[in-house]
Amino acid sequence: MDMQISPSMLAADFARLADNVAMVADVADWLHVDVMDGHFVPNITVGLPVVEAMHKNTGLPLDCHLMIADPDRWAPDYAAAGAANVTIHAEAASAPVRTLREIRSLGARAGLAINPGTAVEPYSDLLPEIDMLLVMTVEPGFGGQHFLDLVLPKLARARELISRHGGEVWLQVDGGVSEDTIGRCAEAGADVFVAGTAVFGASDPAAAVEYLRRTAQAAVTRQAAR
Ligand code: DX5
Ligand code: ZN
Repeated sequence: MDMQISPSMLAADFARLADNVAMVADVADWLHVDVMDGHFVPNITVGLPVVEAMHKNTGLPLDCHLMIADPDRWAPDYAAAGAANVTIHAEAASAPVRTLREIRSLGARAGLAINPGTAVEPYSDLLPEIDMLLVMTVEPGFGGQHFLDLVLPKLARARELISRHGGEVWLQVDGGVSEDTIGRCAEAGADVFVAGTAVFGASDPAAAVEYLRRTAQAAVTRQAAR
């Protein structure tokens, strides 16, 4: 399993976004874009115009994480704006099947996210409709929060559901992912890791990306040898 790193631009310097993204462009797999609307989460970040500009100005595929109250209305527009992945929250979507299909029909990968307190089992029937399941490891809304270990058993159950389903669904974690916590996530079955503070808070963001990936890989190798 390839370990992918998706640095979150929420931890970048918004006045120097292009420069910050360029620092990780050669080593990261994705650029994670946190879209917050002040309703689904108590914070407001960026929207479509920034995603359109980032799409034109960065070589990295955009991994858009929509923390918004009405993803059914907005998600297709993010796919049309050039996002390579659009993730919607299960707690917010009223018509997830329709919205996930619309995202895919526009050529983007479709992701489904669940908050720390949301069980994964009720969403197992949606696995054929998604390319990635995002298990939040903090309550969404802010960068720099502490990783919630209580999510790890659910992450392992999510990996089991995905294996049983048999399809190619990636399992992403987001929130508090660092060199201290990434190994536990990888052991529980995650293969796509969002990291904001751990990347853009580091003195050398590119080296941080590579170190995170190596740490995740080492954890699964150790686990396989047990
Ligand atoms: C939180 C966002 C995360 C956040 C991660 O609601 O979805 O993507 O930027 O930041 P760190 O890695 O600092 O926890
Ligand atoms: Zn995010």
